Amino acid sequence: MCGIVGYVGHRSALDVVLGGLQRLEYRGYDSAGVALVADGSDGMFLASAKRAGKLANLIGALDEQPLPVAHTGIGHTRWATHGAPNDRNAHPHISGRVAVVHNGIIENFATLRAELETAGHELLSETDTEVVAHLLADELQTTPELPDAVRAVCRRLKGAFTLVIADADHPDMVVGARRNSPLVVGRGDGENFLGSDVAAFIEFTREAIELGQDQVVVITPDQIDVTDFDGNAVEVTEYHVNWDASAAEKGGYELFMLKEIAEQPQAVADTLLGRYNAAGELQLDEMRLSDDELRNIDKIVIIACGTSFYAGMVAKYAIEHWTRVPCEVELSSEFRYRDPILDRSTLVVSISQSGETMDTLMAVRYAREQRARVLSICNTNGSTIPRESDAVIYTHAGPEIAVASTKGFLAQVVACYLLGLYLAQVKGLKYGDEISQIMAELAAVPAAIQRVLDDADVVRKLAGELVNEQSFLFLGRHVGYPVALEGALKLKELAYLHAEGFAGGELKHGPIAVVDDGTPVFAIVPPRSRDRLQDKLVSNIQEVRARGARTIVLVEDGDDEVLPYADHVIRLPKVPTLLQPLVATVPLQIFACELASQLGHDVDQPRNLAKSVTVE
Ligand code: G6P
Repeated sequence: MCGIVGYVGHRSALDVVLGGLQRLEYRGYDSAGVALVADGSDGMFLASAKRAGKLANLIGALDEQPLPVAHTGIGHTRWATHGAPNDRNAHPHISGRVAVVHNGIIENFATLRAELETAGHELLSETDTEVVAHLLADELQTTPELPDAVRAVCRRLKGAFTLVIADADHPDMVVGARRNSPLVVGRGDGENFLGSDVAAFIEFTREAIELGQDQVVVITPDQIDVTDFDGNAVEVTEYHVNWDASAAEKGGYELFMLKEIAEQPQAVADTLLGRYNAAGELQLDEMRLSDDELRNIDKIVIIACGTSFYAGMVAKYAIEHWTRVPCEVELSSEFRYRDPILDRSTLVVSISQSGETMDTLMAVRYAREQRARVLSICNTNGSTIPRESDAVIYTHAGPEIAVASTKGFLAQVVACYLLGLYLAQVKGLKYGDEISQIMAELAAVPAAIQRVLDDADVVRKLAGELVNEQSFLFLGRHVGYPVALEGALKLKELAYLHAEGFAGGELKHGPIAVVDDGTPVFAIVPPRSRDRLQDKLVSNIQEVRARGARTIVLVEDGDDEVLPYADHVIRLPKVPTLLQPLVATVPLQIFACELASQLGHDVDQPRNLAKSVTVE
């Protein structure tokens, strides 16, 4: 959710922190703030500024009222949980000599706040974060060393938090702490960085350190020390980030979302890369589960949220078809509260682009407690969910910055397919040549996506024609059903319009009642090779058209059967049925993006949303 940056070194801390916040703004954008440790006539002091609204508001305020030059600083972009997004509730929160920024929710904040108020503290905001600042200021009275005081306060906190703290009395130091919320360290030369993710400091260093749960990190210009909350030194994992600053920039596109849509052929190709060993067998590098363990799997449960959940819904069709292993797909937030039946032979597959989504993380932990094996499909190296899983398949989509997921989704579907094929291979359910055949079909998908991108003018024009509509329906069958759900979700997220996706077979059980004169209905027609499915969907299109719907039909090249019932046609390249989501989703992304742009909405940062939902 919130974006956090910390810096100590030789550069202007304000420039580094604002640059980092700009790259992290996708995480939360309802207010922003910075605090610097600056040198004043009476010694070091905290200089701070914060503003409601997007980061641009803060930058504007700083232009009018500049802060002093400093080399140590922290910053924050917020996605409000406790208290409205106004100037007062924006971070940092300052008490005495310390400034604190925070991501997460301190669950025992009400008790702690009452305790502080009884002791005479006056809290100015409604946030849980300010409680931490006051606790810390108090603790520093008796524990003057900042790292010790931070550890002592962390031991008292319940819930999820990333904290980053600057202290006027420790001008060359920034301290960070994390529990169930992301924080990574960037190792520089004579400077060090903290960030919610590596995008915060990628401009300066690609050398990063993962922090584990319940750890405190102290950075100075020349040192990085990591301990647990009791002060014991801990081993850390260092890693090299395999993308650079340009990957986290718009690269000539007007919007991150447009860039990420355009990158989809590459994202799919990169996710398929290097998946064969010398013997021509499929291999999944990061898989830490043995073939024996996989052979024993007799049930698969996919857990995910949002768009990743729809990737899971698509994957179910392929995984069951190829492996004959029953596969359930469940929202992470529902999974752990329903007492699911799991055991040692259940494979729980979590799908998360960010690797930080709290509901999915909690579901992963629950699954492991129940002794299930957990495999994670993730796009973010070093994030929490893959670290806590038994096995990982990384998607190689590159950083996804726009809040609404696009290339992340396609790469997730591909990674799930690799998993399905790999299971079929180790279980001996498919011959090598059958697997190679499907891999060859997958390898042809990037070119097919490129075709869809090249033909997108018709979709953009359509968005212009439908810009005044208030309600949209999306209709699909089989793997087209989750595509319909994803098409509707994109439109909700970006255009703030009513949009509903449903399975073609359900049409007559309710949704058809809302079809009225002119209601736009998108229909994803299955490839003709699936005759019965295709026929059934064509009937559905006729049914809505008979009730006055304006039909927008996504249909493969050469299938003209539906043309008499289509008000608009979007052509899809011919691909096998199971791969159709990889091409059919793309026009729906473009449609939502274009419609939202024409409505004047902020496509990359839609209202009320955040990219990485790190609270439950
Ligand atoms: C948020 C984002 C969605 C994303 C979902 C799951 O809601 O806005 O775009 O699909 O989280 O995120 P994850 O990182 O777990 O895939």
